[in-house]
Amino acid sequence: EDPKLLEAFEARVAADEFIEPKDWMPEAYRRTLTRQISQHAHSEIVGMLPEGNWITRAPSLRRKAILLAKVQDEAGHGLYLYCAAETLGTSRDQMIEALHSGKAKYSTIFNYPTLTWADIGAIGWLVDGAAIMNQVPLQRTSYGPYARAMVRVCKEESFHQRQGYEIMIAMANGTAEQKRMAQDALNRWWWPSLMMFGPPDADSPNTAQSMRWRIKRETNDELRQKFVDITVPQADFLGLTVPDADLKWNEEKGGYDFGEVDWEEFYSVVRGEGPVAKERMEARRKAWEDGAWVRDAAAAHEAKRRERKAA
Ligand code: ACO
Repeated sequence: EDPKLLEAFEARVAADEFIEPKDWMPEAYRRTLTRQISQHAHSEIVGMLPEGNWITRAPSLRRKAILLAKVQDEAGHGLYLYCAAETLGTSRDQMIEALHSGKAKYSTIFNYPTLTWADIGAIGWLVDGAAIMNQVPLQRTSYGPYARAMVRVCKEESFHQRQGYEIMIAMANGTAEQKRMAQDALNRWWWPSLMMFGPPDADSPNTAQSMRWRIKRETNDELRQKFVDITVPQADFLGLTVPDADLKWNEEKGGYDFGEVDWEEFYSVVRGEGPVAKERMEARRKAWEDGAWVRDAAAAHEAKRRERKAA
């Protein structure tokens, strides 16, 4: 690679300029961005499944309408992100093939089952809450199409977080059984939510370079700490207990100390051994196959339209 081009690129990044699709960029920058954006897109798409599981069983028409809208938003985020990744030169078909063949990663969080309605509250509150914490800084990521995608995505995620927290408020202030369900959902989703931020900085192979290229603007541990600091008082407000015996306010650092995430569990879920990983991939592949006729029909329609135009 031409050292002059590299120098100019790094100067632009250092000046907080956006890099755009047709600009020169180091191959490693293109590769790591394609990796991160495509994993992000896959996460949005696979992320529809745990909640989709409850659309037909939402407890009221109002809840159903909200959940339906939220799950549709996630589909939109996924498609938007695939478009952003495509501008780096990998086709959507290649990315989807990588997901369906099990080669591509997606967020560990979506490999856990949604057992009760309270899980839908906990996902909005914790999972979307963690997603926002991670995505707000990405609005200033150095790659223009990714940064712009994040602006819209974050607006919608913040609605998702609020709808989840509102479900938690209703459950936590409901009957004793509802409150028990809310606590149980918090117990099961807390640690997997902390895992969403990725491995500790010391064990994160990509963080240092991604921080230098301003792809990432904050590290995994920084974001995890911020998430804990914001979320613990929200749990207190609900009258629920965060399932961590080591959780303690640390006056000196102005944040919470918290227990060690089970990193063995994290790595096993990353390897595809999550509790419902197999079901998730089967559901995605089935949706893809079931939708083949729609793609074929759209392509045939487009071909006919072009023919008519040419005639
Ligand atoms: N689930 C699955 N894989 C993960 C997770 C996770 N929670 N955390 C880290 N990994 C993977 C990384 O993708 C990386 O794999 P790879 O090198 O084979 O591609 C490996 O573990 C090592 O991690 P890091 O070096 O820390 O990787 P990175 O710098 O990419 O940081 C992070 C990971 C924080 C997830 C980053 O990619 C990111 O910010 N992505 C955008 C946000 C996103 O994808 N959110 C998805 C969930 S939110 C939602 O969809 C609603």
